[in-house]
Amino acid sequence: MRPHYNKFGDKIVLITGASHGIGKQTALEFASAGAKVVILVARTESKLVELESIIRGGTEAGKVIVASYRCDVSNKREVADLAQNVIDKFGYIDILVNNAGIGIYGKVEEQTAEELELVMRTNYLGTAYCTKAFLGSMLHRRSGHIVNVASVAGSIGVAGMAGYSASKYAILGFSESLYHELHGTGVEITVVSPIGVKTDFFNHISFGPNKPNYAGFFLQPQTVSKAILQASCSSRLEIIVPFYIRAGVWIKQTFPYLLNPLIGWLFRRQLNKSKRAVSDTS
Ligand SMILES: NC(=O)c1ccc[n+]([C@@H]2O[C@H](COP(=O)([O-])OP(=O)(O)OC[C@H]3O[C@@H](n4cnc5c(N)ncnc54)[C@H](OP(=O)(O)O)[C@@H]3O)[C@@H](O)[C@H]2O)c1
Repeated sequence: MRPHYNKFGDKIVLITGASHGIGKQTALEFASAGAKVVILVARTESKLVELESIIRGGTEAGKVIVASYRCDVSNKREVADLAQNVIDKFGYIDILVNNAGIGIYGKVEEQTAEELELVMRTNYLGTAYCTKAFLGSMLHRRSGHIVNVASVAGSIGVAGMAGYSASKYAILGFSESLYHELHGTGVEITVVSPIGVKTDFFNHISFGPNKPNYAGFFLQPQTVSKAILQASCSSRLEIIVPFYIRAGVWIKQTFPYLLNPLIGWLFRRQLNKSKRAVSDTS
């Protein structure tokens, strides 16, 4: 892994959810792009330490400084401690990637209130806590970029993912409002909204044995991490990955009565199939 360009040469980047999937790939990509400091955040310390050594081993000695912090982003006290420790050590960050997230699958009537809360606390509040924790320092320096990883499920609600979809709609609404507030401050915000990605995301027990299992159109994490690096230099509010899915979002929002029946049918079918699979194995 050799730095292939130096666009991020003086940048300090912090990535939440860096222990797996998209976040891990994004950390590798920033390191490879020559970022000055890459800060890894997640709950699984062992995975972060492993990634630290991969990054150190893969880049020319002394090129990239890597640090990792264990933090549960759904806990605002832990996020405040994280920000304090990072600012004490590095002074500031240039790029914050709010990527940590989880999904719990199932009908609303069958999910517990605690499950709905956990998804919202992790995905939406985790993003809001981390944004608030670093925003003051970015505004003070009149420089910085926040990249929030949402999902196409933040524009299109699907059966079986109500809590998840709500958390991603919330991220999009939060980011759009903040985008307007930040106008002229030197601080920018961009949302990256991918379709399905081949990661451990679907290993959560609620997806059961009949998980989407990486349908043909699913993306590689590298495709999304590249979009995240692009987002961190972009003045756009939202980057949908792949770009042509924006047409689907536009059609759904403009002619909901055309697309919604199809989306409803497709995802209800998947939900019923996976329910049957769970009861067959139990
Ligand atoms: N995979 C998809 O199809 C897809 C599609 C669209 C959007 N996304 C979004 O992309 C982001 C990354 O997901 P992924 O696909 O890479 O899933 P993943 O492989 O399951 O990775 C999720 C990451 O989030 C971390 N995380 C979860 N809860 C956390 C918490 N409370 N505090 C700190 N870190 C936490 C996990 O680390 P620890 O468990 O070590 O904490 C892990 O590093 C999520 O926001 C997801 O919603 C995914």
